[in-house]
Amino acid sequence: EKGGYDHFMLKEIHEQPKAITDTFRGRMLADENIIKMSSVQDNLDKFLNANRIIIVGCGTSWHAGLVGEYLFEDLARIPVEVEYASEFRYRNPIITDKDVVIAISQSGETADTLAAIKLAKSKGAFVYGVCNVVGSSIARETHAGAYTHAGPEIGVASTKAFTTQITVLTLIALKLGQANKSLSDERFKNYIQKMQLIPSQIQKLLNIDSKVKEIAAIYKDAKNCLYLGRGFNFPVALEGALKLKEISYIHAEGYPAAEMKHGPIALIDENMPIFVIATNKGHYDKVVSNIQEIKSRAGKIIAVVTEGDVTVKEIADHVIEIPETEEALTPLLTTIPFQLLSYHIAVMLGKNVDQPRNLAKSVTVE
Ligand code: M6R
Repeated sequence: EKGGYDHFMLKEIHEQPKAITDTFRGRMLADENIIKMSSVQDNLDKFLNANRIIIVGCGTSWHAGLVGEYLFEDLARIPVEVEYASEFRYRNPIITDKDVVIAISQSGETADTLAAIKLAKSKGAFVYGVCNVVGSSIARETHAGAYTHAGPEIGVASTKAFTTQITVLTLIALKLGQANKSLSDERFKNYIQKMQLIPSQIQKLLNIDSKVKEIAAIYKDAKNCLYLGRGFNFPVALEGALKLKEISYIHAEGYPAAEMKHGPIALIDENMPIFVIATNKGHYDKVVSNIQEIKSRAGKIIAVVTEGDVTVKEIADHVIEIPETEEALTPLLTTIPFQLLSYHIAVMLGKNVDQPRNLAKSVTVE
């Protein structure tokens, strides 16, 4: 059942090229230059006339929602807010029938997300679900939705569910951007072509496993870690930190890189590993200067960079290269090394990777 892998998590990390291909299937018709999603097409007016889109979720699904915010705003120019389902449901939110709520959940059973959906529906909003488990409570409670075709995710630490959630959100954002003409035909076409390459790029990226393992061996005894990223990769920093906390029990925090100066920089010393996403298009120069600031305080830098990078390579203690793609698509690639890193550290520390203490795969109580 683990398909020859030692743990479900590792199997699920390696399944991502296939999972994303399955999520594309029947939806991304590259030759015809269209994205076919009847759940969006049938409700196109609601999406295009929405005052705003509110994305709700918990944990990793909330992180996918944050990537969604960058995607919808950049590709389709629709305002987005992202909320923890647990906060949204209890703060008497202002919702009208002009709002579209997108609820994201792997299990489709998370209590807070389900309650947020019921609340939004009672206020007249159109609620769209992005779930992995077919026929789950959230899939049934939403007005329409799209499944992530990730297949069963057994490991408590979410991996392929996250990347397929981002895949679905990207497809929706591209479809809306094409429909409201925020995206020119040329840009739309370019995105589709780059999207198609993602599964094979992840496949290739998985070959960095031995390098990530070496890095894991060096930093496995760290007590605290920081993860930094900007723009599309800010949520990836949050997700990287969550992955490390949940399965290795090492304290880790994710931050937007520029926030470092507003507090976390005080923590930096020679014992502090800092994982920085510094891919070439996303505010590269600004991230490079953040890296220099860390270096001058003796922090250890592990940077995720674009293939062929020169500048960061000279300053960082370790670099992990990802293949070139559009900035908006980089989260699908930058996520992978952090999944592998957390996995190897947890294994080296002898932790229960698939069933970490205190955690449940689906949180059906609030
Ligand atoms: O099933 P859901 O996507 O609604 O679950 C939400 C969170 O409980 C979940 O993502 C959790 O944070 C994971 N253990 C993260 O790896």
